[in-house]
Amino acid sequence: MIVYINNEFKLLDDAALSPFDRGFLFADGVYESIRTYNGKLFRYKEHLDRLKRSLKEVKIEFDGFDSIEKNIYELIKKNNIEREALVYLQITRGPAIPRTHHFPNENTYPTLFISVTEFSENLNEQEKGVKVILQEDIRWLRCDIKSTSLLPVILASQKAKEEDAAEAILVRDGVITEGTRTNFFAVRDETIFTAPKSKLILEGITRNVVLEFCKKFGIEYHEEFINKDELKSYNEFFITSTTKEITPVTTIDYWTINQGETGKITKSLQTVFKKVAEDY
Ligand code: PDD
Repeated sequence: MIVYINNEFKLLDDAALSPFDRGFLFADGVYESIRTYNGKLFRYKEHLDRLKRSLKEVKIEFDGFDSIEKNIYELIKKNNIEREALVYLQITRGPAIPRTHHFPNENTYPTLFISVTEFSENLNEQEKGVKVILQEDIRWLRCDIKSTSLLPVILASQKAKEEDAAEAILVRDGVITEGTRTNFFAVRDETIFTAPKSKLILEGITRNVVLEFCKKFGIEYHEEFINKDELKSYNEFFITSTTKEITPVTTIDYWTINQGETGKITKSLQTVFKKVAEDY
């Protein structure tokens, strides 16, 4: 595997990072996951804008944006990925000695790391739907920033795995915020609901694509929090993300929805998404 680290393409075995990198010591960094459709980075501009915003919010000064896109394509080529690729891109505040909680001195430069792997989507999940579990949202109050500090997410994801669920859906103060790595949607009487843009959720690129479809096709939607105790008043659920695209939720904890069948609105959104992706 070849990776891109600090302006260089390196064989993975030759890629080196200081143990004093603040990404390693503090998870002091931000990231993006981007995938290709037909070999093209999907919604690259939106991902780049979100990355810039995350960096700004955590005050990491990085100015190497112009070459990123070109280098990602180069990395895909160097790794001989012929079909679709999943790109992981991370920027940390960089290596600094001594370890200090406050920002380091001016001579510290951010570390950029990019990896690409062959990506194939889970069509079985997209067709048959998945089980999710509900977990308390114990994350910080800036979930709008795509930070690499993910311990609460790791714990909730592990719990989901132990319960044979594909995702943990997070509940804060009685309302559903989002999944550990997905946005959450519910449908009631052909109207779509998802949590509003706020500091409690990540504004997913896929989420916004779904809302664009709603606008385009005249599907009513509300960016409103979904109450955990009112889940049973909705008749369809799905999650969205770069890797899960639109995946129906057919079981929440012990409740199987619609006898495990994917809902009508979810199906039609999936169809539109596939068409857009095909033509991308
Ligand atoms: N996760 N919410 C959270 C907390 C996420 O981490 C993600 C993305 C999303 C969906 O965002 P998007 O549609 O832009 O992928 C929502 C990525 C895939 C990850 O963790 O790798």
